Amino acid sequence: MKLQGTMEINEQGHLVIGGCDTVELAQEFGTPLYIMDEDQIRRTCREYYRSFVSRHGNAEVIYASKTFSTVAMCHIIKEEGLGLDVVSGGELYTALAAHFPVERIYYHGNNKTPQELETALEARVGRIVVDNFRELELLNALAAQHQRVVDVLVRVTPGIEAHTHEYIQTGQIDSKFGFTLPNGDAMRAIKGVIDADHLNFRGVHCHIGSQIFELASYSYTAQVMLELSQQIYQETGVYVRELNLGGGFGIYYASGDDPAQISDYADLVMTTVSETADALGLPVPKVIVEPGRSIAGPAGTTLYTVGSLKDIPGVRKYVAVDGGMADNPRPALYQSCYEAIVANKASLAPETVVSITGKCCESGDMLIWDIELPEVVSGDLLAVSCTGAYNYSMSSNYNRLARPAVVLVKDGQADVIVQRETYADIVRNDVVPARLLNVTNLRAASR
Ligand code: LLP
Repeated sequence: MKLQGTMEINEQGHLVIGGCDTVELAQEFGTPLYIMDEDQIRRTCREYYRSFVSRHGNAEVIYASKTFSTVAMCHIIKEEGLGLDVVSGGELYTALAAHFPVERIYYHGNNKTPQELETALEARVGRIVVDNFRELELLNALAAQHQRVVDVLVRVTPGIEAHTHEYIQTGQIDSKFGFTLPNGDAMRAIKGVIDADHLNFRGVHCHIGSQIFELASYSYTAQVMLELSQQIYQETGVYVRELNLGGGFGIYYASGDDPAQISDYADLVMTTVSETADALGLPVPKVIVEPGRSIAGPAGTTLYTVGSLKDIPGVRKYVAVDGGMADNPRPALYQSCYEAIVANKASLAPETVVSITGKCCESGDMLIWDIELPEVVSGDLLAVSCTGAYNYSMSSNYNRLARPAVVLVKDGQADVIVQRETYADIVRNDVVPARLLNVTNLRAASR
């Protein structure tokens, strides 16, 4: 396993993250456990800020909170000076609970409810990214009721297919997101916003997909969006002041993944935008990027305890851990690959090939196929790296498993930022109608 962030191996051969021995973390907080490396999160935030804002100016970096949204995470993002992308009332609520500066909040989503829009208006979020014609009408009407003019971006689906898993592509034409560019919907929507009394057109947004390695996808997208900006100016006399190019920057999960440098990404995007805008005779818009995975992903590790082992000679050795698809649905959903290390035997050389399975009741509950590890026995600790993005945020209570705790580690200190769920939490919202409480009587009556 490639060591990420502040990871190191101590003299006892234990994996250490943020100065905390993972064996001790397991003893103190139990497993499965999500561990978030605060220095690593901050380092990446700073790298984004330096590469886009300090180096080029006229740019903003927005953390896509869907990746990993907790109140503590919002505090870190706030401190690092980034903005926040939220896509639901729940993510907005989380941001507000962290007193996140509302002017730095961007509200996305393809089906915002009237209530969610109302909350966003009341909270005075900085930008609402209008996704469809229904929302355009609804938002204008709600803003009128509030006697406000709301700053909006228009989400455009540019028709670009990034090379990534099909479920995480979003820029192609056959997509539920945004206004289609080639068929003229995008221009109609933009004119609709410009004409709407209570909406203030600030610019355009697009997001072409996630886990993208090819930087050229971004420069191509920027060009397409600037050509649209030129068309907007020609047809309406209004300039695009803000160009939001979405997120998607790919990260290393397992061997074969070859991510680019954030600074190269920034240089390419910022140069393409300024050169293309100049060539088209447009003012250079402010560039906004929305990284999620690259900020949270490499900072997260999931720690499990090994339980049962099943060796089918000549076929496969299964190693079962005390979590699985409920805390990390990504291998089952997207065939994602991960790396792992035996956290209490981190300096031992690999000896055997095993497959890591979870404890959920289905065969698809596999975390890692065919990984080389030292000899593993029940009670060992397995650390799976790069699980900070779309793991906790996509976790479920499947099989009524309780969601793991999340600890934030830094300089030898570990703080719980999300408590482990209890079985009481799991039944908390269950309600039994009175008529079910007398089952024996009912049975008797029906006989
Ligand atoms: N902006 C918008 C509008 C997005 O839809 C997304 C992700 C992002 C930014 C952040 O993209 P990132 O930098 O994290 O790639 N659950 C999937 C990923 C879904 C991505 C959804 N949108 C996964 O686990 O891979």
